[in-house]
Amino acid sequence: MSDPTGFRVNPSILAADFVNMQAELARIDGADFVHVDVMDNHFVPNLTFGPQMVGRIQETSPVPLDVHLMIDAPERWAPEYAELGAASVTFHLEAAAEPVALARRLREIGARAGVAVKPSTPVDGLYDVLDEFDQILVMTVEPGFGGQSFMPDTMPKLRALSDEARRRGSAVWLQVDGGISASTIAQAAEAGADTFVAGSAVFGSDDPDAAIRSLRAMASRAHRH
Ligand code: DX5
Ligand code: ZN
Repeated sequence: MSDPTGFRVNPSILAADFVNMQAELARIDGADFVHVDVMDNHFVPNLTFGPQMVGRIQETSPVPLDVHLMIDAPERWAPEYAELGAASVTFHLEAAAEPVALARRLREIGARAGVAVKPSTPVDGLYDVLDEFDQILVMTVEPGFGGQSFMPDTMPKLRALSDEARRRGSAVWLQVDGGISASTIAQAAEAGADTFVAGSAVFGSDDPDAAIRSLRAMASRAHRH
């Protein structure tokens, strides 16, 4: 973990300028990971990029990659992102036929394995297999687009997951993604999140590194610990 507070801020390049990616990545060299949103226009109604682009980002980025796959058939594609060197690969629970088998495959390749849930997807089915994952991503907006408003009604689910992880002594990271900003991060941290994706709040800032530092500090102050 690159930050001693134990709270991670992962800027989402969905909010970056796609034709100046190298310069955009250089602006967030103080981040813990760069969050890379892969969308296939099937699982979500939007399209971004695939392994070729992500491979170049991997070669260029000053910080490790946190890949978020909003795609159908993750069994077909997720291993490729681990193989190209992504530090973390997260697929959606709703799209995976065998989530535990896929997580094991990702770990075998050497990536951290993550599973994501949409705002309305329950997480209690994950309690017994928490240790099969390195990260659980609770979406705080409907996946597909940046710049949406944080959904506070996802917080009870996050809190329950955090209670369960604590009860079981699990080291799993709890990530939130969507509408995270200076005005919402404290709620998510207070409910137990330790890893925060922020697109517009970081790339929309004149000083992205200062925005990252300040979000991390707010999370650290608000977390239930
Ligand atoms: C949404 C993506 C998010 C998005 C977050 O489907 O998964 O990562 O980029 O963007 P903001 O922080 O602008 O809501
Ligand atoms: Zn994302």
